Amino acid sequence: MFRFGVDYYPEHWPEERWETDARLMQEAGFNTVRLAEFAWSRLEPSPGRFDFDWLDRAIAILHARGLQVVLGTPTASPPPWVMAMHPDAFRVMESGLPVSYGNRRNYCPTHAGYRERSRIVTQAMAEHYADHPAVIGWQTDNEFGDRCYCRHCQAAFQSWLQHKYSSLDALNAAWGAIFWSHVYTAWSQIPAPLATAAPFGDGSHNPGLALDYYRFMSDQYVAFQHEQIEILRRECPAHFITHNLMGAGYDRLDYFDLAADLDFVSWDNYRRMQWTFRPEVNPSEAALSHAVMRGLKQKNFWVMEQQAGSGGWQIVSVAPRPGELQLWAHQSIAHGADAIIFFRWRTARFGAEQYWHGLLEHDGRTGRRYQEIKRMGAELARVGAQIAGSEVRAEVAILLDYDSRFAFQIQANNPAFHYTAHLHDIYQAFHARNVAVDVVAGDADFSRYKLLVAPALYVLSETTARRIEQFVEAGGVVLVTPRTGVKDETNTVVNMPLPGLLARVCGVEVEEYDSLPEGVSQPLAFEQPGICDGASPHARIWCDILRTGDAQVIARYTQEYYAGTPAITANRYGAGHAVYAATFGDASLYTMLAPWLLKLAGVEGTLTTPVGVECCVRWQGERAIWFLLNHTAEERHVTLPAPMVDIVSGQQVDAAVILRPRQVLMLTT
Ligand code: GAL
Repeated sequence: MFRFGVDYYPEHWPEERWETDARLMQEAGFNTVRLAEFAWSRLEPSPGRFDFDWLDRAIAILHARGLQVVLGTPTASPPPWVMAMHPDAFRVMESGLPVSYGNRRNYCPTHAGYRERSRIVTQAMAEHYADHPAVIGWQTDNEFGDRCYCRHCQAAFQSWLQHKYSSLDALNAAWGAIFWSHVYTAWSQIPAPLATAAPFGDGSHNPGLALDYYRFMSDQYVAFQHEQIEILRRECPAHFITHNLMGAGYDRLDYFDLAADLDFVSWDNYRRMQWTFRPEVNPSEAALSHAVMRGLKQKNFWVMEQQAGSGGWQIVSVAPRPGELQLWAHQSIAHGADAIIFFRWRTARFGAEQYWHGLLEHDGRTGRRYQEIKRMGAELARVGAQIAGSEVRAEVAILLDYDSRFAFQIQANNPAFHYTAHLHDIYQAFHARNVAVDVVAGDADFSRYKLLVAPALYVLSETTARRIEQFVEAGGVVLVTPRTGVKDETNTVVNMPLPGLLARVCGVEVEEYDSLPEGVSQPLAFEQPGICDGASPHARIWCDILRTGDAQVIARYTQEYYAGTPAITANRYGAGHAVYAATFGDASLYTMLAPWLLKLAGVEGTLTTPVGVECCVRWQGERAIWFLLNHTAEERHVTLPAPMVDIVSGQQVDAAVILRPRQVLMLTT
């Protein structure tokens, strides 16, 4: 069943209004509501005294209208009494300062007292709702994240290290603690990497210590979540458990680890927000997030918060144009969402999010946004069952590596380098050609793919290196980019020429490198005809200066003391090819390389579409559903390979399609 619904806060509105809300939800075609993830103070007004009556009444009203419920454990926002009880449970920031009461996500995930309160409230909710006919599942907490540097975390870090290294000798050796005489002689001497302790700001801690701390903090949230999951699985075996993650850009947690415990992942998809006050919305950014979220468990996902109006806390973002809300929601579906839950139902009149707009206005009116989503609801009532559970199939994978991502937070290498932006520069090249891409971890089954991209695989384990080598040997094509294989898992620079463990498969060695100042770039000269037709991609950010063995030179640098040396190479290895891009380039470099790489790997695109039109396919067995999405405010002409059928209207659609502004078509053969 396709899930369509909304995030609802009955505790924000008079009880007399609940019936009207439930009726309007039903009329919008909703079947699912998420509740209670910030309702701790109403559920447990004082320690151990629970009040579920109000929530029971709200759920009864919703259920009578055919709506089912996902409940959030309310631990992202503790009531004042919890923090008064545990004043040392406030999260301490990297600066060494604790956060104060007033916002949310203000707790330390290690704190034993906080963890106990989290277990108590989860247990009480789980017992109360285990057999409730309306409740189908749970969301743990809300958007886990934010590192803590408090003394409880420091002590837990020391135990974590003891468990990992067994002896201080092993730890000192792994981190190279002899540097600056940091040789630890007792576990209790080991610090949390506070910025205040680092005279040159973030990142001047020992990189081995800092990377372990980031891994540790990620593990703390996984463990915090795990305690809730244990309770929920025990008490509510019939319910699913998920968590709302934050897309491709969030980089403080290892999302593969966080997802491992869940039945499926959900994420919060905001396209136009106050933080980036700009009217334009780049569809490939959301698409990348969808691919990352789908990749975490290699399965379909939910959007637990789909944008319902202008975003805004202090500033109000540009209003979603007519058609945009349904377009963004359909894009989520096209990339593998099996549920769209809008955030939020009615715009709050009070609190920090007064300007984060819901489907309804502040005064409860149903306006343009509600009507648009209601139309979408009517369509989904007809076709949702065909879509739910159908899968996205990809022959291209991008490797996402949290160790590397964390290590770049410690040492950016070049101020203009951003891991997520690099991932996006590569991803958008495939997205623009409507080629489906999976985003996978280093231990994924690479043999499912023909083309694997390993962007800036900075921290490289022997296992992952061997698996990449085997993939190429067996006929795969891999694209490797700079700063790959630089570090081993202790965040120590490898004792071999770069790209380290991938030098053999790539057939190149990095002799030296040039980290380029901001704004400096140089054109690349392509040797091979047909790769760079008319475009002139530039080297920027970083230039590896290569010595090539048997690898074929695809492009050369044109300037500086390394003018004429190889900038892009391709090496035959076994039955496959390893392509090494020795410079980061900007998006245009990958836009240009993509068709050549796809050809080399034997991957075919679905459809060529005009700029701003996206085409995605979901498969139900051998039946394909094509999503055509016009992200522009203008009409767009698309030519299909043959006439198709619109699954919503049941009408045949001509091969020459005209898409209205922001129109979405769902087609099948
Ligand atoms: C999300 C969060 C919601 C709400 C929304 C708008 O990140 O999960 O609770 O805050 O953003 O700000």
